[in-house]
Amino acid sequence: MATTHHCLPMETSDPPTSDIANAVEQSLDKLGVRDAAGLEGLFARLEQRLRDDVGQVTTGGRGPEDIEQLRVRWLGRKQGLVRSITENWLRSAPAELKADVGKRLNALRGSAEEQIASIARQPTVDKWSQPLSEPVRQRPYSAAAPGAVEAAPVLAGELDITLPGTRRTIGVEHPIRRVIREITEIFLSLGYSVEEGPDIESAYYNFEALNIPEDHPARDDQDTFYVDPQTVLRTHTSPVQIRTMEKMQPPVRIIVPGRAFRHDAPDATHASMFHQVEGLAVDTHITFADLKGTLDYFLKAFFGPEVRTRFRPSFFPFTEPSAEVDISCIFCGGTAGCRICKYSGWIELLGCGMVDPALYSYVHYDPARYSGFAFGMGVERLAMLKYGVQDIQLFFQGDVRFLHQFR
Ligand code: DAH
Repeated sequence: MATTHHCLPMETSDPPTSDIANAVEQSLDKLGVRDAAGLEGLFARLEQRLRDDVGQVTTGGRGPEDIEQLRVRWLGRKQGLVRSITENWLRSAPAELKADVGKRLNALRGSAEEQIASIARQPTVDKWSQPLSEPVRQRPYSAAAPGAVEAAPVLAGELDITLPGTRRTIGVEHPIRRVIREITEIFLSLGYSVEEGPDIESAYYNFEALNIPEDHPARDDQDTFYVDPQTVLRTHTSPVQIRTMEKMQPPVRIIVPGRAFRHDAPDATHASMFHQVEGLAVDTHITFADLKGTLDYFLKAFFGPEVRTRFRPSFFPFTEPSAEVDISCIFCGGTAGCRICKYSGWIELLGCGMVDPALYSYVHYDPARYSGFAFGMGVERLAMLKYGVQDIQLFFQGDVRFLHQFR
């Protein structure tokens, strides 16, 4: 800039804009400008050149350093065009033109300052729509994923934040997770803790240590997914009773939420993968009354204080005695007036019993000292009853129209 020294053909009052850098190095006299009309043409050229320079930066979508370069070219203290004009035109101007030159020079300086400040304040739209491979430094928030570039113009004050935004759908907790959480919270409040065990389980934990003999129908491969003769997909969460008693001494108070698998044909109440919550409490002096009180408390907390509970004798290989627990029908209020309870007024809910002392021998607990109870419930069944879901398959289909109802 302004470093060439060859003489230009500046004999008219209308130098070509491309020669402005040279023109400002000459005196007005040398340029042949000797009156107001000549000055006017000369400064009009300068204003035009200024607009061209500013326009190039704006439409070119350049960065802050381009704006700085523009500022130095026009307003730079040592070699800026405005400075050169002061030195070379104003100082040596004839007395009658001096005031005019000074006025026009001030106007030029003002308009250069204003235009450059204005583009510095407002990065162009082009700038933000550059490909993502553009240098990160141009985007204050560009650490985000592609598409997040729209965050940056907010900083630059050019985004209209009153426009409607992009709506993102917020997910909901899956109803099965939700019911597991509801069950867990109730038992945590009773001092229970949560245990887990593997989905792929040994036949030993799934059957043998639970007192389920080799010839028991539950072991039938009609019902059980075998990985190999010693390994199954657990058919219930009860094996975690054994795993827990192996690793801790009484007092034991645990619940075990988890998946279970059975070779069942899918229908409205059966799925080959489903969820259970197992419970186990072992301590000194635990009686059937503790079992009844605990489950009655749980079911009232889960379904509402108005439900009544009923314990019917039953059989499970790992509990003795065993019971099925029913609740009064939550749909007809136990009046035996609806199809869901088959006009009985009761709904069968879960299995339970006192831990069969045979199990203690597998885990080396003293059966003379300790007693306990256990229970197991199907999460999908509880969820279907509590939320009025008619078909178990809905839980596994991932249809958001169903899932979003659990907000
Ligand atoms: N494991 C049983 C089942 O899957 C449910 C069960 C019944 C668990 C009684 C228990 C229990 O702990 O005591 O059908």
